[in-house]
Amino acid sequence: MVMDFNTQHPESYDRWKDCDKLASSTSASQQLTNMTCWAHLLLEPVLIPGGLAVDLTAGNGHDTLFLWSRVGAEGQVLAFDVQSQALLNTSRRLSEAGATVQGVDPGQPVQLHGGGVFLLQACHSYLTQLLDAHPMAVMANLGYLPGGDHGVITHRETTLKALHSAAELLAVGGRLVVTAYPGHAGGAEESRAVLDFFASLDARQWLVLNFCSTNRLQAPLLLVAEKRRAGE
Ligand SMILES: C[S@@+](CC[C@H](N)C(=O)[O-])C[C@H]1O[C@@H](n2cnc3c(N)ncnc32)[C@H](O)[C@@H]1O
Repeated sequence: MVMDFNTQHPESYDRWKDCDKLASSTSASQQLTNMTCWAHLLLEPVLIPGGLAVDLTAGNGHDTLFLWSRVGAEGQVLAFDVQSQALLNTSRRLSEAGATVQGVDPGQPVQLHGGGVFLLQACHSYLTQLLDAHPMAVMANLGYLPGGDHGVITHRETTLKALHSAAELLAVGGRLVVTAYPGHAGGAEESRAVLDFFASLDARQWLVLNFCSTNRLQAPLLLVAEKRRAGE
């Protein structure tokens, strides 16, 4: 049976059109493997107005903006980055979009009062020390800041620490989505560790999917895990 996507799933169809727009700067053949687009589509169903989401790597703020656009003005997005330039770029992008943006002191646990975007200049490996709440969505787009210093990259050890923390904090029903890049120096080792982390998640508690381009070895990987029940 051929499914008419438009009439059967009008909302999903709209999302595909959004995705098309998002990928409009790439050629038609690249759109299928645009992992940012897939990451957003995978998070979409768990992002509800008024909810809490975490961006482990704010960068230029594209992902933070996506999360904020879905949790809305009453919702909260906590975004980490180690670079002040990244947080400046994110702050500018979100402010222009109309978000309330606050910088947060990384020296003490985060108090999330009111809706908006909370920016933390801190390593994401401190997630559990800084956040005592249960987000429905956590995302990480690893690697370096596009247009910035390519010497500042995410690293295997701190990434793994952040992913363990994210898995612990995530609300039941929530999703963790990670894009990893094997193509840059250190990226292959980190990507392998991320794959191993997702593979190690308890199948009684987690549903896990691995998206990858099977004919391009250095292409980014996208991993998603959905928490089906609380840990024992
Ligand atoms: C690929 S970029 C993120 C892209 C971003 N999500 C966006 O939408 O533009 C990766 C970011 O991770 C940041 N980063 C590197 N190590 C980090 C760490 N330990 N904790 C938090 N952020 C880190 C980098 O500074 C960089 O801005």
